Amino acid sequence: MEQNIHIPNTFGLPATADRYIVVRSEAELLSLLGSGLLVQGPCLIVGGGSNIVFANHFCGTVVHIENKGIRLLGPASEAGGLLVEAAAGEVWDGFVNHCIDNRWHGAENLVAIPGTVGASPVQNVGAYGVEAKDIIHSVKAYEIATGRERVFTNAECEFAYRNSIFKQRLKDRYIVWSVTFRLRRDFAPNLGYKAVAEALAAAGVAHPTARQLADTIAALRWSKLPRPEEMGSAGSFFKNPIVSADHYQRLKQEYPDIAAFAAEGGYKLAAGWMIEKTGWKGRSLGRCGVYERQALVLVNRGGCTGEEVAALARAVTEEVQARFGVALEKEAIII
Ligand code: EPU
Repeated sequence: MEQNIHIPNTFGLPATADRYIVVRSEAELLSLLGSGLLVQGPCLIVGGGSNIVFANHFCGTVVHIENKGIRLLGPASEAGGLLVEAAAGEVWDGFVNHCIDNRWHGAENLVAIPGTVGASPVQNVGAYGVEAKDIIHSVKAYEIATGRERVFTNAECEFAYRNSIFKQRLKDRYIVWSVTFRLRRDFAPNLGYKAVAEALAAAGVAHPTARQLADTIAALRWSKLPRPEEMGSAGSFFKNPIVSADHYQRLKQEYPDIAAFAAEGGYKLAAGWMIEKTGWKGRSLGRCGVYERQALVLVNRGGCTGEEVAALARAVTEEVQARFGVALEKEAIII
């Protein structure tokens, strides 16, 4: 147990907590849960720290899950399906690449997303036409209050866009320990995202291999998002909001080029497009900036604090609300 130690986070913010505990094995986890420490005060579970903004000292215990291991469990119930289990502490991109190397298919579009396997069901990570929910079979987690193990089926995770039961009803109640994915032996590329199909067509690739698809998507990602080693960020800072069809039609009349997609409940608006329209793209408040190549991303311009991130997020949110009548919701968690 260490006091006031710096907590790793991809934004590169100064982040401290009363206690910071790294858990690497099931025995360590069970002993921690058995100690009762996590029910005595606030606790925060972190993986790669890629979605958390520390605006304050955390008065409680931060638990960093670092268990490792990826294994093929065997065939899934449907023909050609495979079940692959990965430990929560595995780096997500390492897991995706391990699957590609082993010809376990289905995760290719989720290449190069920062964070860990354990975070993937919590916020249902997604990109380029695929969401974690599409390939998650089940999630093994431990209840913090009782230390009891529970396996959640895909349906029980109540997945939605960047959301799950672990961010809603069971928020802060479970520690995800491993995730079982339902993958496939055969490779059937998912080219539903327009920019992916266009990039492959431009490269003259009609039938991409899994590796070619992943490389194309990684290149697309990095053309818009800051490389973590060069600039701190939490990936998309905001979610793309869903508005009613009525609201969308009104906006469309005023802004014919508005970027939006039909979605359940109405239309999903590209928050990056709206933020760009407010003029914030590329600008900074203090040492926190709106990234010049993707307005959905807030970045550390050097020495930024969590308070500065929160201040910029507020300023951007207020301006989008004033101009479009749309409430932006954060994807990143500010504590
Ligand atoms: N757009 C702008 N200006 C911007 C950014 C975007 O006009 O500054 C427009 C684009 O031109 C496009 C539309 O908005 O018409 C969508 O842009 P993009 O394809 O870049 O995707 P996004 O909706 O901005 C989402 C995810 C990303 C994911 C990409 C690709 C969320 C919150 N973000 O971004 O996820 O990589 O789609 O699928 O849903 C993340 O969660 O950290 C993340 C990077």
